[in-house]
Amino acid sequence: MNSLLPPGPCNYLAFLQLTFRHYFRLRFDPIGFSKKLTQKFGDIVFFRIFHHRVVLVNHPKYIHQILVSDSANFPKMSRIRNHLRQATGDGLLVTEGKRWHQQRTATQRIFRSQRMSFFASIADQHIGEMLERWESHSTIEIESEMTLLTQRIMGDGFFGIQLESEPEVAEAVRVLSDSFHDESHSIFNLPDWLPTPKKRQKRRATTLLRLKLRNIIDHRIASKGRRDDYLDMLLYPATKSNSNCPHHEHASPDEIMSQLLTMYIAGFHTTSVAMAWLLALVAQSGEIQRKIFEQSNVEFSDSPVTDSDDRENYAEMVVKESLRLFPAAWELFAREASEATELGPYHIPRGSLLLILPIVMHHDERFYPNPEEFDPTRFCRKTESARPPDTWIPFGLGPHQCIGQSLALQQMTQILTSVILRFQLTLPPDSIQKTKVVPKVSLRPAKDFKIAIKPRIPQAADRTNTEALSSCQ
Ligand code: HEM
Repeated sequence: MNSLLPPGPCNYLAFLQLTFRHYFRLRFDPIGFSKKLTQKFGDIVFFRIFHHRVVLVNHPKYIHQILVSDSANFPKMSRIRNHLRQATGDGLLVTEGKRWHQQRTATQRIFRSQRMSFFASIADQHIGEMLERWESHSTIEIESEMTLLTQRIMGDGFFGIQLESEPEVAEAVRVLSDSFHDESHSIFNLPDWLPTPKKRQKRRATTLLRLKLRNIIDHRIASKGRRDDYLDMLLYPATKSNSNCPHHEHASPDEIMSQLLTMYIAGFHTTSVAMAWLLALVAQSGEIQRKIFEQSNVEFSDSPVTDSDDRENYAEMVVKESLRLFPAAWELFAREASEATELGPYHIPRGSLLLILPIVMHHDERFYPNPEEFDPTRFCRKTESARPPDTWIPFGLGPHQCIGQSLALQQMTQILTSVILRFQLTLPPDSIQKTKVVPKVSLRPAKDFKIAIKPRIPQAADRTNTEALSSCQ
């Protein structure tokens, strides 16, 4: 086997102080540091953080090898899984091997394409209520609004009920996500039982979330009601409607709780923060809003849209471009080489940690010229197919690819078009560029965006507008 290590900022016998420097740079400026490393050393970069061998990978071919073709040799790093387990228990994000496979197959059913219309109708109702409320406002804080909305859609779609005390629940999810991020990226962590303010916060958040979900489970069992939703699927796995599911045996109460927590934590914050970036970007461009409005207005009219209709969906292109610029999951969970292996021309020693940052690849000029520009036409079918595969990875790749991808894309497009059909949004130019991004579990703006909103005067659908139907030009 080849013994050549990838190039990197320090040699194999690095001095302790160098590894310290790498640790602090990766901890406090992970995106800037990773961009610099790939610019200087290329697509595979090797460095050390204390005793860890770290390999940063930034080429679709090698990322494909790690996440898809050789994924069994690159499980999620065990330290990360252990920290995540504290927040979610043994849910899909944590398990590996046979258990993961069983959970994944069972959970997949809830995201089948036939169920997408169920989620769409639930989303429609909550979006409608939000937009009614917006009528009496002239500005909105977009991240707070999107947090409330996605929380309601998820609560209703997955458990058939609204969580009480919504702001506290949202805050608990944020606290748990942040503490998972900080602790899994830290060299030293205090034990959880210590009475420090952060540990207290973490304990309170864990208790609150578990209590709320426990109430929902108990309520469903006591009411004997059925709703054919995710909670039903977990509680009654062998009902007629899901008898094809290989995960037949009844899940334990702990497992049900873990699965619910996993869906909630994995799905809710990522989607709300992605929506906040999306609407902020769109609010900075009247032209993009006009195009979305014109195309959506035509489609919402009685103009028949058939299955064979191959119009480009402009709103979907806008969503994809916003996920390129601001991927909510800006870094994937670190992977660990379970065996020594080869990556391109290089040797990867057993136990190395593999880092993949979608945000770095999404801003790579080789794949996206003028990467800082917000240009939805990058996702026209023609342009997309000319790009190398696996260069757009906001949902990861391979067997652990986001299970909620279709749902998230559907929901984001639905919210975007519904908002633009009712309101004109305005955010001063440069507001986004001037905002600091906070890379925790999700990529958040340091400060919420205040977007000015103005109701549109109802307009008749303009079916003759051909520009809207060819928005790739
Ligand atoms: C814009 C929204 C979302 C983004 C950007 C996103 C991103 C991701 C990414 C990048 C991964 C893979 C992580 C890795 O391989 O290291 C992932 C996994 C996952 N996501 Fe999402 N996600 C989103 C929405 C959702 C939703 C709505 C749900 C569920 C309701 C969900 C549930 C999950 C689960 C359970 C996994 C783990 C899958 C597995 O390991 O088998 N996500 N997500």
